[in-house]
Amino acid sequence: MNNSELCAKELQYEMNLYGKRGVALARGEREFVWDVEGKRYIDCTTGVGVAILGHAHPALVSAVQKQSATLMSCYSPFANEGRARLLERLSALYGAPSKVFLCSSGTESVEAALKLARKKTGRKSFTSAMNAFHGRSSGALSVTFKEKYRAPFEPLLGPVTRTRFNDIESLKASVTNETAALILEPIQGEGGVRPAKAEYMKAARDICTDKGALLICDEVQSGSGRTGKFFAYEHFGIRPDIVCIAKGLGGGVPIGAIIASDEVSAFTPLEHGTTFGGNPLACAAANAVLDTIEKDGLLAKVSSDGAYMMQKLSASLSAKQQFREIRGMGLFLAIELKVPSREPLAKLAQAGVLALPAGEQVVRLLPPYIISRESLDSVASTLSGVII
Ligand SMILES: Cc1ncc(COP(=O)(O)O)c(C=O)c1O
Repeated sequence: MNNSELCAKELQYEMNLYGKRGVALARGEREFVWDVEGKRYIDCTTGVGVAILGHAHPALVSAVQKQSATLMSCYSPFANEGRARLLERLSALYGAPSKVFLCSSGTESVEAALKLARKKTGRKSFTSAMNAFHGRSSGALSVTFKEKYRAPFEPLLGPVTRTRFNDIESLKASVTNETAALILEPIQGEGGVRPAKAEYMKAARDICTDKGALLICDEVQSGSGRTGKFFAYEHFGIRPDIVCIAKGLGGGVPIGAIIASDEVSAFTPLEHGTTFGGNPLACAAANAVLDTIEKDGLLAKVSSDGAYMMQKLSASLSAKQQFREIRGMGLFLAIELKVPSREPLAKLAQAGVLALPAGEQVVRLLPPYIISRESLDSVASTLSGVII
């Protein structure tokens, strides 16, 4: 079947949730993917920031092959060497005495964080930011901003107060002695790739401490090295009480986690849990991803490639009529246009570059960390050819 036949077949049988972009992917290698008609693309979507080592990375392939031939299922009451190693490493990455809960997706990690905040504080309410996206299960959806996503499913968890992002006065008014937790993305992803200001994150930390509320950083998209530090909050010199990660952690194998300081890790047995969380296959994938990030110095590469790309994109795009602004940190990049991004995204795909929207007028780039300078140059020049 060709691209359009496969898209049509999926649209026929899949619930009407995603739409299709006219491309059916068959395989990938490094930063490239090929569609079923043999066309090659540079992949700046990475399955929404998932395939951070690119596609078919030998270390990840070998870890998954080996683990799948050894042991794939091991429910958490039974220990497993790969899981023990991953738990220890995630706790060490947090950098303070902490406990980890493993799950299988971003929304599940947010769900766990919200439950833990209620359990620890005995309080009910949450504060989240305008334009925040935290996932689509009921708890995570409650703290997500877009009314369109929430309205059909009310009543959700509450009360939730919405605070203006990057506005300290608004934070002071929103976080009270009744707030269980403030949840923030250090870089709003779906909300348009908007980095928090350092003073804002520092104020968030202080206000939460002052009010006895927990600070949750949702690093589902910004974590696992995407900004050049393992957690984006490290750029701001703070540490949240709970951090949520998922997406890139397994390099393509579903895995999510929360890491919480020992002090707030208040769950008692069976208060929370999940069948798939911490399965040996996902843990082997995550260990291979962490090994490769360390061994190949990928955090430093993400930082320097990000700076290179920012400079390259502003040089080639700033004089364009449709161009408004470039934002981002590391390889978490966005170009805001003065026009809807739908058509430029389609033209980019035609020209061999896959990118994502992030709101109406934003082109979002989430390339794999292993991308070559040659491919980054090619992405920049293709963008320059497509944006008028
Ligand atoms: C910041 C953030 N939190 C949570 C989620 C939800 O993650 P998942 O789609 O894995 O449930 C996403 C997904 O885009 C996200 O960007």
